[in-house]
Amino acid sequence: MVNSIKMHEKLKILAICGSPYKGNTYHILGMLKQSNSEIDFKILMLSELNLNDCLGCYSCINIGEEYCPFKDDRDLIINEMKNADGTIFASPTYARMISALMKKFVERTSFVAHRPIFFGKYAMALSTCAGFGGELTSNYLVENFTQCGFEFVPSLELMVSTKSENERNLNRMKAINKYEKLLETIGSQKKFKPSFGQLVYFNILKSISVLNKKKGWADYQFYKEKEDFYYDIKIPFVKNKIAKWIAGKEIKKIMANK
Ligand SMILES: Cc1cc2nc3c(=O)[nH]c(=O)nc-3n(C[C@H](O)[C@H](O)[C@H](O)COP(=O)(O)O)c2cc1C
Repeated sequence: MVNSIKMHEKLKILAICGSPYKGNTYHILGMLKQSNSEIDFKILMLSELNLNDCLGCYSCINIGEEYCPFKDDRDLIINEMKNADGTIFASPTYARMISALMKKFVERTSFVAHRPIFFGKYAMALSTCAGFGGELTSNYLVENFTQCGFEFVPSLELMVSTKSENERNLNRMKAINKYEKLLETIGSQKKFKPSFGQLVYFNILKSISVLNKKKGWADYQFYKEKEDFYYDIKIPFVKNKIAKWIAGKEIKKIMANK
């Protein structure tokens, strides 16, 4: 399991912004950056990076991420996430969901949800919206990147519809409050415990890796030595049994469709 804090260095926060321009979401991130000069805070605008649309070829999932036909900025972003102590996944709400740009990033890193590498790293989802759908946006980010191994603190969901002084002040207060929670959590190095859902998901993916081992040997190699979870951790007996049983039922449903 990765240990995220490097002693005597500034805490590193990476913010990945899925807005196509430097608008509301970027400005909130800028405000967080300015709020604490002790933090090494970097904002990556996906719109300024070279990231191609996923072709759906399955190479990254089946045979390994190094076989993706694109040699673009995908790995640069992943390396920045590995180097940071915490990542903020930030997206505006467009049509009640994350932006297309953020979705492209999620698709291009799908293999990490299959073979998670970010255990021991912390994250926060930030969504902005005019009125509806901010929660859907942040929940989607939390679900997807939890599966990549991140431990999430409560999301920051902001409405930015009127740009009144009152709204700005309220948003500023909310944003700084949630951001400080993220910093506190990173500082505390709270021990991570997999949720029940993560245990079930682990067992489903491990079973699929066996069923699909001819085509999908990247997952097969990844899961074959792993017993109960992605890294060594004692899982309570009954919890483990139930997770395996539920995963087995889900696998049966998948197989019945084949
Ligand atoms: C194409 C588009 C779709 C949008 N859809 C929604 C929506 O479903 N719900 C909502 O509350 N706001 C919606 N908005 C408003 C944005 O979420 C809001 O203005 C957000 O803060 C924009 O952030 P940005 O400036 O970083 O792009 C939409 C805006 C655009 C441009």
